[in-house]
Amino acid sequence: MAAGTSADRVTLVEVGPRDGLQNEKEILPLATKVALIERLAEAGLPVIEAGAFVSPKWVPQMADSGAVLRAIHRKPGVRYPVLVPNLQGYAAARAAGVDEIAVFGAASETFTRKNINCSIAESLERFRPVCAQARADGVAIRGYISCVLGCPYEGAVPLSKVVEVAEALSAMGAAEISLGDTIGVGTAGAARAMLQAVAASVPMAQLAVHFHDTWGQALANILACLEAGVRVVDSSVAGLGGCPYAKGAAGNVASEDVAYLLQGLGLETGIDLERLAAAGRFISDALGRPPVSKAARALAARQAA
Ligand code: HMG
Ligand code: MG
Repeated sequence: MAAGTSADRVTLVEVGPRDGLQNEKEILPLATKVALIERLAEAGLPVIEAGAFVSPKWVPQMADSGAVLRAIHRKPGVRYPVLVPNLQGYAAARAAGVDEIAVFGAASETFTRKNINCSIAESLERFRPVCAQARADGVAIRGYISCVLGCPYEGAVPLSKVVEVAEALSAMGAAEISLGDTIGVGTAGAARAMLQAVAASVPMAQLAVHFHDTWGQALANILACLEAGVRVVDSSVAGLGGCPYAKGAAGNVASEDVAYLLQGLGLETGIDLERLAAAGRFISDALGRPPVSKAARALAARQAA
């Protein structure tokens, strides 16, 4: 990670407005969601996952994603992907002006069933026409794989399954594949080995890592994966999040903490840490609790001193 090369730029994919807010008991007002997304863009986040076009019966918190996408002021150069599980979601997303989608599968059969009500093979069959339509429309595609380091229902997940799903998503045209430790059980050695196994089949430049911080390992895992060559990292402002279909999973690694780590490593992100922390305080105030991010707390303490 020597300074001064293009390999020194890391793209943070901010998933707080989706992965974070999908997990809240209380449904936030539309204006709060819109303000959060706009504040994140102003803080320099280059990619902000802005919603999910899924069944409102399954995830009521995302029922207003169409309204959110219509309401946000889009900052030029910023990407605003959304989750799309099927053609119905794709059509609704497109009607709201979406130009980047994320299909989301998993390496575990039981999690796939609980999350999107089908088998892994059926999920890939469902994504195929969605991705074909996206390619035809010039819509960028991100692909998620959940449970890459363990499943809340099945426990250990074979690496070969992660690789198989990654290959399938890549073949469908997913330009970026996010490897998700949905329940945050992975440790640095396992995370590195998993990334390297996938990178043997799908180029590292196409891969992203997505860590939940349940066991407090997310930053260590990210460092191990950065050292192995990954340059796209998912994170969530204030450490918001969890997954409604992975009970007990903590929030994503906090964006503020990742930004501070990357700053210390001399890796460029384009993020203004203070503005990012302010966005985190904004959403934490709206939710009535302090940010999980330690960097945000340290910054606040320094500012108060
Ligand atoms: P299903 O019930 O099998 O779907 O759900 P269906 O096709 O049989 O349709 C049933 C009903 O859902 C119908 O409505 C459809 O219109 C409606 P009804 O006739 O009963 O009134 N429906 C939809 N409505 C809105 N938008 C749609 C849509 N599709 C069908 N797109 C389905 C299948 C996939 C829809 C459902 O299981 C679902 O929505 N699941 C979403 C799960 C989800 O969002 N999970 C959280 C995100 S994943 C995650 O957090 C992990 C990640 O962060 C990475 C990591 O951490 O690992 C990405
Ligand atoms: Mg997640």
